[in-house]
Amino acid sequence: MKPFFKNDFGTLYNADSISLLNEMESGVSQCCVTSPPSYGERDFGIDGCIGSEGSVDDYLEKVVSVFKGIKKLLCDDGTLWVAVKDTVADGFAQGIPWLLASRLRKDGWILVQDIVWNKRVLEKNSAVSRRFTDSHDTLFLFAKTGKYFFNMGAMRTAAGKNSVWAISNRQDHRIPVQTLPPRLVSTCILIGTSDYGVCSKCGTFATRGNKCKCKGREVVPCVVIDPFAGFGTTLDVAQRLGRKYIGVEINGSFCSMASKKLACFGKAL
Ligand SMILES: C[S@@+](CC[C@H](N)C(=O)[O-])C[C@H]1O[C@@H](n2cnc3c(N)ncnc32)[C@H](O)[C@@H]1O
Repeated sequence: MKPFFKNDFGTLYNADSISLLNEMESGVSQCCVTSPPSYGERDFGIDGCIGSEGSVDDYLEKVVSVFKGIKKLLCDDGTLWVAVKDTVADGFAQGIPWLLASRLRKDGWILVQDIVWNKRVLEKNSAVSRRFTDSHDTLFLFAKTGKYFFNMGAMRTAAGKNSVWAISNRQDHRIPVQTLPPRLVSTCILIGTSDYGVCSKCGTFATRGNKCKCKGREVVPCVVIDPFAGFGTTLDVAQRLGRKYIGVEINGSFCSMASKKLACFGKAL
């Protein structure tokens, strides 16, 4: 597939993740940081775009099939970080984050933990008088195997060891989908990948001064993937942290905006 955008750090494809991920090589990425489209999100009229299915079940099935592709692309000690927003219908929560977590577990993912993302910005509710105002989303940490990579040092400094992360969510109201705050993404990437990269021969995560047991001479940067790349937050944060990235986004106009962001790397995070 022809890339939509490419630079020294990675590639962005304008495609449907359900089909494209299956065509990619296995085990090429160490970490996936993403946010699927919410159920009932605005319909952009693009074929294959997830979010406007007739039922929650159909929606979940599609999201799970994207993550099936991600499982193939992740190395065995890789991690998947998914921020999921619930949908409120007729004033009631649909429970989408936990329904998705349960489906992913059935599909073989290990649910390491749920993290509460305290967004600090109060959102409007559809029935404010009989519900609390939504001010958090759920971030799930999944692993392929029990021997997943987890950078403890980064966890202490970036996330303060706690499973509640208070990170402001100031949305640009000109952007029609929810984008992730760069600080949330950088926290996941710093914990889920190594600053020193991976051994190019056996794929072991490198540490400072570490000589790989396989005697592989070269270390290469870790690769972060986002199958719902949107406006490219994950890809941009990855390149700024010295990682490589792979992004897939179905909406061509979002790809254009993401490419502009990726091309002006050099500005501060
Ligand atoms: C919540 S947004 C992601 C925003 C992104 N995390 C950011 O910070 O910019 C979800 C994205 O998934 C995209 N999407 C929906 N269905 C898709 C599919 N089948 N394949 C690839 N992308 C898809 C939507 O167009 C939307 O941009």
